[in-house]
Amino acid sequence: MAETVDLVIHGGTIVSPDASYRASIAIKDGLIHAIGAADAMPPAKETLDATGLHILPGAIDVHVHFRDPGYPQKEDFASGTAAAAFGGVTCVFDMPNTLPTINNAESLADKHKIASAKAYVDYGLYAVLGDDSIAHVPALIEGGVIGFKLYMGNTFGRIPSPSTGAMLEAFEVVAPTGKRISLHAETNSIMERREARLRAAGRTEPIAHLAARPAVVAVEAVERAATLAEWTGARIHVLHISSAAELRPLAEAKARGVEITGETCPQYLLLDETDYDKFGGVVRVNPPVREKPNQQPIWDALVDGTIDMIATDHAPHAPEEKTRPDIWTVDCGFPGVETQMPLMLTEINKGRATIQDYVRWSADAPAKIWGLYPRKGTLTVGSDADIAIVDLNREWTVDDALIQSTSRISPWHGRKATALPIHTIVRGRFVMKDRILQEDARGTGRSVHAIQQMPKPAPRNTDSTMQAITSNTGR
Ligand code: DOR
Ligand code: ZN
Repeated sequence: MAETVDLVIHGGTIVSPDASYRASIAIKDGLIHAIGAADAMPPAKETLDATGLHILPGAIDVHVHFRDPGYPQKEDFASGTAAAAFGGVTCVFDMPNTLPTINNAESLADKHKIASAKAYVDYGLYAVLGDDSIAHVPALIEGGVIGFKLYMGNTFGRIPSPSTGAMLEAFEVVAPTGKRISLHAETNSIMERREARLRAAGRTEPIAHLAARPAVVAVEAVERAATLAEWTGARIHVLHISSAAELRPLAEAKARGVEITGETCPQYLLLDETDYDKFGGVVRVNPPVREKPNQQPIWDALVDGTIDMIATDHAPHAPEEKTRPDIWTVDCGFPGVETQMPLMLTEINKGRATIQDYVRWSADAPAKIWGLYPRKGTLTVGSDADIAIVDLNREWTVDDALIQSTSRISPWHGRKATALPIHTIVRGRFVMKDRILQEDARGTGRSVHAIQQMPKPAPRNTDSTMQAITSNTGR
């Protein structure tokens, strides 16, 4: 008689990057124990009937802002990870623009304490890479980061953008560690000048935000970052790709062998310049929502692999922070971690890409790119049982009043969807079941840095690091 497992899920359709197939899944001790025919499953303490539902690897959202510590009126780690659970997201990477900024071992240790006490889903924590933190890179790695975030342009939190010289040094220091550097790739000096001119001209209406940040802001930043990554061998990730024009430097760098990856977000696939009139400052986000002709090339780049994944840039703010009349005073960003999967699967239902593509973008690629695969990002025997069980035939309308995030204001409000996560499981435990938060799962989320295994780094031209400068190698 086979040993008893914790949970068997029967009747669902399992989705992988290659195929969809009907099978049962057995889970034991947080891991996937078996996948196969229903009558081949071992006895189970609990069973779940998933007939008519699809079983996906839980999404890994590599770009969220949970605001904890610092801005409890916007979000905290409990509300943010509850929102993730409702969105079929089983792992999030939290950005470092909290208060204090995560740029040294102490602030990182404090955030680890907060997150482990409150999280409903697994997480990684980013640290800032900039002038203040270059010297702390070894201590930050020791303290458990998933990667580094470098702000080439200003956004919420006003983290100063390093000069190109400081950026090169930072890349030199991080390249030999193998960690990936995620880039807010918007060139600050271009935006500052344009914003100053728009303000001087008295422009305060929502679409002036787009005028301040034309696509060249992003194109120039991606191109420059790729040059520095190529020189140093640093691994980089381009966050929130918003324009068709960025795809050229991204694709060219990939073709040259630069270790570069990219993400886009639902707002750049689904919203366009007409939404500034519809939603006003609510749609203000960095980089900005752009003109409609950008959308199809971004979809095409996801399908052909130029863009590797989908993330959200979940950026919660309070309603009063999003509705000020002068666009320059409106906080940038809006929530997304909870609506990404249903909105993207709605597009899959319309035939814009396959559900295999979606699993590649939402789980498989993030896990591989951050060295978490095959523990995360896949439904395979031996993997963590991180699972989103979704109904692909559910018509509903996004209602900001009903979302888990503390930030109940977004341009997703009123949007029709045809897919909905019904249950979310993290390492074998239900965190959301039948659309109900499992309160006892609070504090069960864990940092994934401990299981991260990045491939061996290939640093180049890093002989101008501080160490090389002070160690007289005879050059
Ligand atoms: O709109 C944005 N909001 N873009 C960012 O890069 C940061 C984010 C935030 O933290 O609010
Ligand atoms: Zn962000």
